[in-house]
Amino acid sequence: MAGRILVGEGLRPGKKPLRMVGVMSGTSVDGVDCVLCRCRPGSVEPERAWSRRFPKAMALRIHAAARGESGSWECGQLHHDLGRFYADAVAAGLRGEAVDGIGLHGQTVFHRPERGRPATWQIGEPAWLAERLGVTVVSNFRVADLAAGGQGAPLATLFHRVVFAKRDSWTLVQNLGGIGNVTELDFRGAVDEPAVRAFDTGPANVLLDLAARAVSGGREAFDRDGRRAARGRVDEARLKCWLRHPFFRRKPPKSTGREEFGEPFFRAVLEDWPGAVEREGDDLLATLTEFTAASVVENYRRHLAKPSGGKEARVILAGGGAANSHLVRRLGVWLARWNPGVQLVTVDELGWGRQMIEPAAFALLGAYRMWGLPGNLPATTGASGPRLLGQIT
Ligand SMILES: Nc1ncnc2c1ncn2[C@@H]1O[C@H](COP(=O)(O)OP(=O)(O)O)[C@@H](O)[C@H]1O
Ligand SMILES: [Mg+2]
Repeated sequence: MAGRILVGEGLRPGKKPLRMVGVMSGTSVDGVDCVLCRCRPGSVEPERAWSRRFPKAMALRIHAAARGESGSWECGQLHHDLGRFYADAVAAGLRGEAVDGIGLHGQTVFHRPERGRPATWQIGEPAWLAERLGVTVVSNFRVADLAAGGQGAPLATLFHRVVFAKRDSWTLVQNLGGIGNVTELDFRGAVDEPAVRAFDTGPANVLLDLAARAVSGGREAFDRDGRRAARGRVDEARLKCWLRHPFFRRKPPKSTGREEFGEPFFRAVLEDWPGAVEREGDDLLATLTEFTAASVVENYRRHLAKPSGGKEARVILAGGGAANSHLVRRLGVWLARWNPGVQLVTVDELGWGRQMIEPAAFALLGAYRMWGLPGNLPATTGASGPRLLGQIT
């Protein structure tokens, strides 16, 4: 659904600035990214960022939970173990420094917003952070939007609008996490606020990580800089077939997860491509990387209008996938086929680390909750109206 965000909607610039830590661990299950930033309703300034990788055993437990293979006792235990892990990670980065609050995304182990019984579940008990750090923790951001009929995603949109909207320009912010998501910020005419659209684009790193792990016998967690993919040959027939996946045609608002583009999809790929892992590992990675790049642009082609008339047009890449130089190059090629006038940049070039954007988005959402301001943009999630996002511990 295309939507206009009204001028100053929900913004009360008189609100006291808050120094917040944003804590994000995404569908890649690589670890947790934290950022300390100074938030105002209309601006976010990063102070510093740090990350902590998941220990192997914890990553395996998260994967098992996300595949639906863990029982309620194990999920309960993991929920609390993760809460303590996040608390340690935040405490280690803060080194005793005081902050006003924490915006904690948690770890998604289930996300099915579309069915007759929509559900989403982020685990990681916030009480452990509140106790350890002695500050307000805002968490469980997605459920209020879901209950209001929305997708509960994407939620980084508000942050993208606050930080990246630029007058007289057309900007896409493309996050390449496990799953990809895009925010369109389009200034049209003489208005003060951009038109905003946002939705998940499908797979980003998730299939590449699964393939890298499979072809390396578990030694490589990801295809560093896309080296394998760059050596391989793209299987055009399979690429074409995968691009017919109905998700890419589905109209926004839409969101997806590992349930659709994780293990089940990868299993289907391997069933249809016998010997790929054993003999054609690089071709498998090349084809999946091409699929990732092409599917992102396929979403633009279907669901976004090309920027009009001489306006500056740019795509800003963020997330771990922005470090995959082969993926970025292929995205550039598909982008140029769709619209040669668009400039491709990574957030690093704009002074933000690529792993800072998602945690900073949840720092800002935490602050919005503490200010009593709604954090969702209903036109982008599909919710029936603005909602306070996040529960306070
Ligand atoms: N140098 C690199 N080369 C290729 N891929 C990378 C590189 N650095 C990070 N990545 C990819 O980024 C992923 C992590 O991205 P991230 O933005 O943290 O995703 P999520 O939010 O899903 O955790 C890793 O799993 C890996 O696939
Ligand atoms: Mg990550």
